[in-house]
Order: sequence, then structure tokens, then C-alpha cells
Amino acid sequence: MKRNYAAADEVLYHVGFSPAELEGATVAVLPGDPGRAEPLAEALGDSGGDVRKLAVHREYTSYLCQIGGVEVLVCSTGMGGPSVAICLEELARAGVRYLIRVGTTGAIQPGIKLGDIIINKAAVRLDGTGRHYAPLAFPAVASFTVTEALIAAAEACGAPYHVGISASSDTFWPGQERYDSFTGYVRKAFRESMAEWQQLGVLNYEMETAALFVTAQALGLKAGAVCGVVAQRLSGEGVNAGAVYQKALHLQEATVRGAVLKLQKEADVLCGL
Ligand code: URA
Repeated sequence: MKRNYAAADEVLYHVGFSPAELEGATVAVLPGDPGRAEPLAEALGDSGGDVRKLAVHREYTSYLCQIGGVEVLVCSTGMGGPSVAICLEELARAGVRYLIRVGTTGAIQPGIKLGDIIINKAAVRLDGTGRHYAPLAFPAVASFTVTEALIAAAEACGAPYHVGISASSDTFWPGQERYDSFTGYVRKAFRESMAEWQQLGVLNYEMETAALFVTAQALGLKAGAVCGVVAQRLSGEGVNAGAVYQKALHLQEATVRGAVLKLQKEADVLCGL
């Protein structure tokens, strides 16, 4: 596979920082929300360690923190597949090789509660972005190494976690069969789609994981995803990121930190390129 790395001092057009500023980081943690980048970097980083702002550009807010004494990038992706793919293209050119998405999600199976975490091992491709990298028949699958690290870390910190398949939709309303939108209209193709995903054992809806997995595979990167549950669709269409979710946030963060430490020990994240 051809690899077109950026020059050390090239400021990447969308993310707004250069490879040199990454200080050798090969692992990136990717929240969707730009406002989460700084507190996430602070929560993930070694206690007493520095957290350094790299750039705030479009939906990409980037910080460096240290996990186990090693630089790790935290970079928001914004919402939806297109901005995830742009982010991955530039992070790959800057030398990043491992990606962990940290997002929010709506659960569609019983037994999953607000504040639980879901580790997605694969995703139904209800997005358009992945089709620009691979045909629809190509699966959206997580890296086994990253997923294993996330599961081990969730287990170790006692997080209430579930492992399974996500349905990644380009839309929050019709693609996730929500009727509480402006018009309430859901295209025929999506009516009763939630029942079909439930029947097939899909755990959750969100908007980025399929694009992340397909793009990462196409670029030769390793990606995993962990989401906090902010909606339980069996009891309604609303989102609730209130007290229960906030209380559980530290378990999601502990899971990601534990997974990065495990990858540093067992994978080749420290080898450089
Ligand atoms: N994010 C989504 O895409 N859907 C939800 O239901 C909650 C968060």
C-alpha cells in the first residue's frame, strides 16, 4: 500500500497541526464533540502530566496528553462519517496508526441502561462515506487488537459494558427511525428498520463508527469504538446525557485509558513508522 506521509512541518489543512507537533503519538482518541477534547485529554492523561492544545480548526479540536508517559492525541471528529474520514486521512499522514472512537449512542436492545458502555466490534453501514472507500459488500469491522484491549480494560475497571454491532446512520432522525423530528416523516426504507436491527441482534445506533472502521481498514489503520449510552430506544426517542450518564463517564474514560496502556504493552504502538 502506498503511504503518503506529510513532511514534519506541513500543517495539515483540516486538522490544523503538523506531524512534528504530535511528538511521535501513534494513538489517537477520537471524541465526536469538540468540547469534549480538552476534558477527555485531562481525564485520560497521567496524573500530573501536561495536556497541550494543538489546534482548534473547524470540528477538529486537538490536544496531546501522556498516557503511561507516551504522547497520545485526542482529536474531535465532529458528527457523521465525512468528517471522520477527513480526520483519518490527515492523522494517517501524520503518523497515527491506532484510533479509538469515544462517542455517545442510543441502545436498541433490552438490558442496556443509560450510562452503560457499548464496545462495537462491527457496524451496519447506513452511511455514505464508507462507500467512497469500499463497496457496500465490504464489512465495517473493528480491529481485533483494539477491541480486545477495550474489552479487557472495561472488565478491569468494572464498567458495565456490552460488545456487539452498531447501526451507523448518516442521520439522527430518519436513519435511526425517529419520528420526533420537524415533520415526523421517515422514509419507507427506514420504517420498521429498528425492529429489523433488533431482530438481527444489533445493539445500538450512532453516526460515525461504520465510516471509522471502513476508512481505517482502507488506510491500513487499526480502529476500535466505545460509546456511552445516552438514549434507550425501548423507552423513547429522547436523549438523556444527564446525571446517570455523567456519573458513568469516568468508567468510559478509564476503559479508554486502560486500553491505550494495554496497546502500548502488547501491540506495536511504540514502534513508530
Ligand atoms: N447518538 C446517536 O446517533 N443516536 C442516539 O440515539 C444517541 C446518540
